[in-house]
Amino acid sequence: MPAKGADMGTPAGPSVVVIGGGVIGLSLAWRAAQRGLSVTVADPDPGKGASYAAAGMITPVSEAAYAERELYQLGVAAQQQYAAFAAELTGATGLPTGYRQAGTLQVAWDIDDLAVLGEFRALQESFGVTVQPLTGRQCRAAEPLLDPSVRGGLLAPDDASVDPRLLTSALLMAATGAGVRLIRSAAVEVTVTGGRADGAVLADGTGLRADWVVLAAGWRSGSLAGLPPEAVPPVRPVKGQILRLRPGPGGPVLGGPGPGGSAPGGPPGLLTRTVRGVVQGSSVYLVPRESGELVVGATQEEMGSDTRVTAGGVWELLRDARAIVPGITELELAEAVAGLRPGTPDNAPVLGPSCLPGLVLATGHFRAGVLLAPVTADLISGYLATGELDERAAPFGPGRFSPGRQEARR
Ligand code: GLY
Repeated sequence: MPAKGADMGTPAGPSVVVIGGGVIGLSLAWRAAQRGLSVTVADPDPGKGASYAAAGMITPVSEAAYAERELYQLGVAAQQQYAAFAAELTGATGLPTGYRQAGTLQVAWDIDDLAVLGEFRALQESFGVTVQPLTGRQCRAAEPLLDPSVRGGLLAPDDASVDPRLLTSALLMAATGAGVRLIRSAAVEVTVTGGRADGAVLADGTGLRADWVVLAAGWRSGSLAGLPPEAVPPVRPVKGQILRLRPGPGGPVLGGPGPGGSAPGGPPGLLTRTVRGVVQGSSVYLVPRESGELVVGATQEEMGSDTRVTAGGVWELLRDARAIVPGITELELAEAVAGLRPGTPDNAPVLGPSCLPGLVLATGHFRAGVLLAPVTADLISGYLATGELDERAAPFGPGRFSPGRQEARR
């Protein structure tokens, strides 16, 4: 087994092995390295888990329907730091992240869907956020290619989006540039010595020793060997199928700046901003990229670890997306992919020290991994560097799932 921090080559602070190199593991590894820790990330295929299938919405307001108040507030904190986070990443690497702040328009397709939006609005306002209600006509003025049947909407102007694949590529470069050691292998076990987590075992049997173990393995976080049952986070896979639709090779089919197309300065596609629809009670979202690509998502299915793309999943997404934006039928269906979100019993992440000393959890982000990456990275790297957990993490401790059990401190 290598000695602690042995391969780093430079003097470093405490060592940490991060299990999982998705958007969460890479973000916190980067921040921890910036704080002087000696960081190793173990992942056979970094950025190719849930992050790979994510749409990249930075939309705490329009995601509020899935959140309790504390999670909403954490999402807003993340949204407020996202522009600087993305700019810092690009500054460090020269790589784009696809960050755009263009807002979200939530729309209702029929009168019953409008009532659902009314409930969303009441929830959003109970969280202290004021969204702007729009008539159907105002929705189409904002997004001219919406279907005439759209009855009304809610505008959340501060919402943003990133391209998660670009984001993870930039994070990988930034993290390794900051000294993070990447091991392209799966960690299969957490080792525990004298009642403290002190490393991991890789799939080939290699052992890694560290002062800290951070579990950031998404839906797999609950399946590592070696952990006492009470330290295992209650995460489960929640399948999401997602589509990528592209303008044809000749350029945008219907969009482009000018009449009937995107607003000047917007992407050359059908929409300028993220549009989330409620269509006869079913939810769909369409996230435009600068390239004119539209990401359409996502199903939410309890199917264990199944990642098959199904005819029914694709049909539902296209059916609902077409109801909102008929022009999507002209686009190329470039990709259909399924990912597995790490769901928890209360839909909120599990952040901070576990009941096993040495083991820190950064998992269970469910629908909000991309959104919460910057704030998770700050909270967890701050804890590793100082031993103090920011109070914003307090509602998300693993102890909430086992009342009476105290989380271990350093
Ligand atoms: N964040 C949206 C989703 O998980 O589908």
